[in-house]
Amino acid sequence: MLDRERIPRHVAIIMDGNGRWAESKGVPRLAGHNAGMKAMKEIVKRAHELGIANLTVYAFSTENWKRSTEEVSGIFRLLITYVKSELKEIMDNNVRIRILGDASAIPRDALKAVEKALRETENNTGLQFNIALNYGSRDEIRRAVEEIAREVGQGKLAPEEITEEMIGDHLFTGKLHEDCGDPELIIRTSGEERLSNFLLWQAAYSEFVFTDTLWPDFTPERFEEAIETYQNRNRRFGGR
Ligand code: FPP
Repeated sequence: MLDRERIPRHVAIIMDGNGRWAESKGVPRLAGHNAGMKAMKEIVKRAHELGIANLTVYAFSTENWKRSTEEVSGIFRLLITYVKSELKEIMDNNVRIRILGDASAIPRDALKAVEKALRETENNTGLQFNIALNYGSRDEIRRAVEEIAREVGQGKLAPEEITEEMIGDHLFTGKLHEDCGDPELIIRTSGEERLSNFLLWQAAYSEFVFTDTLWPDFTPERFEEAIETYQNRNRRFGGR
């Protein structure tokens, strides 16, 4: 049973397996992403109901541009559909949408839809839903180093004054950006067991839950099971 008193503050998800799900059904890859978006909607709702403070999803990586133009534009069309069709429910649930990554490079119509959702949900105080878009963790760390190096160059900071906390603050998840901190739990679906350039710095102390379930089949019940797994692991460590 899920312990409602010990819900993780920040859960991050690598939503993997849309392509394989589509293949197994003999439908186009985009139909897999569409089913993936539906699964994502349900997880956002459940995260809200569970009182999770931050949910982060890996929606599009800096490496995903290598996919076909058709697939890339299809994913961004789905993003537009998501923010438009869900905005009312998102507002009703007091969810705040944030973006991790360099959104300036995404197609213009998608950026416009996202910016509208960011503006409209800005003052919501419930679940913060972070969508990693054109996100890569090495790129994120490189940007943080650049910002800090600039301060050093301007004489505002000595190199030996650089702290781990300062580096964390400069990441997209940090206090100077979307401010959601490190995830206690990272879930990856579809049987792959790697980080794929996601939250490398932030994952230092995260618990990992890997499941063979393909992302479109990942239900809110599975989500709760993953949280339960996390809680059981924690409980063991706490006993030591
Ligand atoms: C990974 O599956 C999934 C993606 C690269 C895209 C994730 C997109 C969604 C869940 C739906 C759209 C939602 C938004 C917010 C854009 P894969 O294609 O790598 O699957 P495979 O490894 O089986 O090929």
